[in-house]
Amino acid sequence: MREFLHDPIKTLQSISRKYGDISHFKLGRQHVYLINNPDYIEKVLVYDHRNFTKGKRLQLAKALLGEGLVTSEGDLHNRQRRIIQPIFHSKQIAAYGKTITDHASTLNQKWKDGDTRDMLKEMMQLTLSIICKSVLNYDVESEAEEVGKALTICRNYSKRLQSPLGQVLNKIPILPDVRGAKKAREDLDKLVYGLIKERRKRPEYDIKSYDDLLTRLLQAQDTTTESMPKDGGKSTSTSSTGATSPPSEMSDRQVRDEVMTIFIAGHETTANALTWTFYLLSQNPNIEERLLYELRTVIDNNRTPTVYDIPKLKFTDKILRESMRLYPPVWSMGRYVDNDYTLGKYTIPGGSTIMMSQFLMHHDPRYYSEPERFNPERWSSEAKSILPRFSYFPFGGGIRGCIGESFAWMEGILVIATICRQWRMRLVPGHRVELDPAITLRPRYGMRMKLERRNV
Ligand code: HEM
Repeated sequence: MREFLHDPIKTLQSISRKYGDISHFKLGRQHVYLINNPDYIEKVLVYDHRNFTKGKRLQLAKALLGEGLVTSEGDLHNRQRRIIQPIFHSKQIAAYGKTITDHASTLNQKWKDGDTRDMLKEMMQLTLSIICKSVLNYDVESEAEEVGKALTICRNYSKRLQSPLGQVLNKIPILPDVRGAKKAREDLDKLVYGLIKERRKRPEYDIKSYDDLLTRLLQAQDTTTESMPKDGGKSTSTSSTGATSPPSEMSDRQVRDEVMTIFIAGHETTANALTWTFYLLSQNPNIEERLLYELRTVIDNNRTPTVYDIPKLKFTDKILRESMRLYPPVWSMGRYVDNDYTLGKYTIPGGSTIMMSQFLMHHDPRYYSEPERFNPERWSSEAKSILPRFSYFPFGGGIRGCIGESFAWMEGILVIATICRQWRMRLVPGHRVELDPAITLRPRYGMRMKLERRNV
């Protein structure tokens, strides 16, 4: 336990090296089974997902996220996923490409040649403003502003709830942090419910006037025969009458939960991916040169990139892919085993937890030669086609795989293209770069970098 808390990645790596594809250990009283084989991971996430839930730890996140996609289970999750999935289809979200490049261009204007900045902080702010604009058509230029501040407080507070001490402190309502988090949550609720009410009041709250994800969520309907309960799915049972119901939309409460979920799930991960990418480029100037060549060729006349450039930015794609291989923003995932489950030669007892780690898989020499080397060229179409599906899974997979994957690729590639075309970034000498594997994989001390404006 002590070893795991001190350095979870190293501990898991040494367990898997010693014991192979399935290993068992205890964390406190919890039995944990680490699985470290792409076929087993595929079995758990895709084929046998019904035998698992996401576990009790998520109950805590419900205080903020309610019953949104990340925290709901069973029938409610299936129904919500069915309704929301089409909204995140790559063709649908292309509309947000301009929001992404507009916000990245604002940074280009704000930064000055010779500035030293913490790129983690900059990217958190950037992805937060992008998600606020895309979801609510709301402008948040800094974390100092009301919404940005409230979201940041909630995000940090949810993270603290993951620790046993945080859980104890959470029960003391007079503590300033607990009060602050409550107030931040109430402020956000007020804003989101207010916007929902306003949109619903307009007889024609059409996509053209507010092309944001909130409008799309309000318009989304479940057209299958299983109707959404009037409480928006607060109860997890579905209508079992078998009768065909009219298409049903989400309740205000359900829309609020999904909005909050998309806010939280949709910005920190991408910010980490971008920060690590800038770090890797700074350490590999030859690769950075090749990136610049591609950007200059595809995005001619120093114009702002658009979604139409993305298919041509093949090397940029490989760089982001390789960056998320080395530093997967979600570095591990767990599943709670409902009933005894057979995997390979073993039976995993109901009540235990299965753990899978993107970090371990992505650094496994069985699938990646020289796994520690940043080598975007390894991602040729041929190499991709022979890798087992779950040897690379930064976005998870199956019914609970990341719904924002297309959004994240679009955002990642467009931000890299917009920023790296203008700036060369170098790590500040002496800055310590260390992994901080919490829920997401952050650089523990941020990423202080010096900015040099490129000659264009
Ligand atoms: C590089 C960026 C991102 C990474 C690496 C990432 C990774 C993941 C992973 C691994 C999961 C699955 C967790 C599990 O199964 O336990 C997930 C779920 C999810 N992600 Fe992402 N994500 C990213 C960006 C986004 C964005 C931009 C959005 C929204 C705009 C988003 C929304 C969600 C949601 C709603 C879920 C829950 C899906 C469900 O359970 O049905 N993510 N993400």
